[in-house]
Amino acid sequence: MNTHFSAFERTLHLERYPAKHQHVSLQAWDSADEYIIQHIEDCNLISTSSEKSSNKDTPLIILNDEFGALSCWFHSAKPVFISDSWISHKSLMTNMLINDLNPESITFCDALTNLATLMPAAPKLVLLKIPRSLALLEYQLINLSKVINEDTKVVAAGKVKSVQNSVLKLFEKHIGKTTTSLAKKKSRLIFSQFETKEPHVSPYPSIVEDPLIPFALHNHANVFCRDHLDIGARILLKNLPNAEGARVIDLGCGNGVLGVSILDKYKDAHVTFVDESFMAIESAKQTLLAHLGSLDRASFFVSNCLEEVLKEEPRDYSLVLCNPPFHQQNAVTDHVATQMFSDSKSALKQGGELRIVGNRHLDYHQKLKKLFGGYQVIDSNKKFSVLSTYKAR
Ligand SMILES: C[S@@+](CC[C@H](N)C(=O)[O-])C[C@H]1O[C@@H](n2cnc3c(N)ncnc32)[C@H](O)[C@@H]1O
Repeated sequence: MNTHFSAFERTLHLERYPAKHQHVSLQAWDSADEYIIQHIEDCNLISTSSEKSSNKDTPLIILNDEFGALSCWFHSAKPVFISDSWISHKSLMTNMLINDLNPESITFCDALTNLATLMPAAPKLVLLKIPRSLALLEYQLINLSKVINEDTKVVAAGKVKSVQNSVLKLFEKHIGKTTTSLAKKKSRLIFSQFETKEPHVSPYPSIVEDPLIPFALHNHANVFCRDHLDIGARILLKNLPNAEGARVIDLGCGNGVLGVSILDKYKDAHVTFVDESFMAIESAKQTLLAHLGSLDRASFFVSNCLEEVLKEEPRDYSLVLCNPPFHQQNAVTDHVATQMFSDSKSALKQGGELRIVGNRHLDYHQKLKKLFGGYQVIDSNKKFSVLSTYKAR
């Protein structure tokens, strides 16, 4: 993996968290990061030298900085870092430490943070990486429009394929006049000039109902399958095991559809909801609270796979349910599923079950066989299989 990011005679060592699980071809920054850094430096929009203190009162907001490249680069401007991803938070923290930078110069915020209470004065500069989810972008632009003013420079960056008309329209609608740069190394910049108008009301969280489940799903903007029930979740829901008195983990819980189904049916079960998205965890809480009126039989962890859960004893879970993701940020990868399965084995008690759903073309069968020594196909259709395996020892 290339970890040396160099520009303007400075070099940063940048890793994707967790470094040990990453594919060697993946690096912690992309050409959109390079483009945005080059633009800000060329135009001298902020100083990156710690000696120059004129930036102390120049609030800089950085949104969706995947592995912390931008926040490390511009750390001396004391940025407010906003990301929905726990992995991004961990990556930035790790990269600050690797590069001997003081993490206290960064204000770490999740994507649900109310910017109006965080920054009484308008920020001078906003740097935004275009997220995968248009809904998240919309939510973030609505929030930004409440705290920026005509003097705020808004510079966004993304791969050319992500800078679509729909994206530009959102900037026009919520910020103001919007232009783009030429493409460079398959990335493009977006410049948006704020125009005063009445801020829009965020349509998130939104609510989805489905005849398969007796409750409504509450979805914040960045939640997986925000506007319908996922087809993988659908087949797993039809094949949930008996969970009477069970201690269950809903791993990669999204809006909590699997775990809340367990709590709805088994009145003495306990479910630990885990996701790397802050918005997912908040959505799962809302889904549960709206249906059962209490969070009593539940715990919640924002975590990379089960890392935060495994810090706590006892590791005596009886069941892990999982509909794994097959990408991290913009990269298609199976390393997350692999870590989820191996962490599940560590969290389960002897005889405990891991039940998953996966696209049939992914080789989850092989992974389970290698880790647990075997597996059973519980159900399958043209696209998905539900697989089960037990921890023998
Ligand atoms: C395929 S979705 C499943 C959502 C929900 N359980 C369902 O069945 O509809 C996968 C979930 O895993 C979460 N996720 C992705 N990477 C993760 C990681 N490294 N650790 C924990 N959760 C992760 C995503 O945020 C997403 O909510």
